[in-house]
Amino acid sequence: MIPMQANVLWHHATVTRQRREQMNGHKSFILWFTGLSGAGKSTLAHCVEESLFLHGCRTYVFDGDNVRHGLCADLGFSDADRAENIRRIGEMSKLFIDAGGIALAAFISPFRKDREIVRASVKAGDFIEIFCHAPLSVCEQRDVKGLYRKARRGEIPNFTGISSPYETPGNPEIIVMTGESTVEECARQIIGYLQHKGKINPIRSESIKQQNL
Ligand code: ADX
Repeated sequence: MIPMQANVLWHHATVTRQRREQMNGHKSFILWFTGLSGAGKSTLAHCVEESLFLHGCRTYVFDGDNVRHGLCADLGFSDADRAENIRRIGEMSKLFIDAGGIALAAFISPFRKDREIVRASVKAGDFIEIFCHAPLSVCEQRDVKGLYRKARRGEIPNFTGISSPYETPGNPEIIVMTGESTVEECARQIIGYLQHKGKINPIRSESIKQQNL
């Protein structure tokens, strides 16, 4: 079979990522939130986005549940479908950072290999992996969507943490203890990291909005 890309050539833009970054006044990069369902990935991603947005950064949150209503509506939760889900989100996030934005991707992304493929596909420093660490017992107790209860009753197959594995990151840039810290504490930790790495200009930590979990 002839590879799809054989007769397709990359078109180089004159409006480059670098020019877009200059215009925006900040770097573009991917914040990749990984962790169990109910660990607080989306809530935290939106809290961080709020803070970045208030400071004039171009941002967007890609969220597992939302993306699965559209771009990935044809995918289920087999290992292969999850790999394809993450591949598509990775490609989408890459386009987004090429457009000069900050992509906040909140997906369980349970397999180390799939996350590493995304990391390897961008420049060093563009992929910032954030492990949202909350014990299964805490996520299950929260059970915001009632899915753990259903999974325990055998009504949802391949449920992460119950009947499908979650592989913890080996060397994430940031670990946030979402099972015990508040959303605001975790958000401050992430903003602090970004400032320290020179990805964004200083942001006053008190400006991080109060949000309820
Ligand atoms: S991923 O594994 O492919 O990264 P993704 O983040 O897109 O998952 O979607 C996870 C969301 O789908 C969960 O937050 C939950 O609401 C819902 N969901 C439905 N079925 C499952 C399942 N079998 N395992 C995990 N999450 C599921």
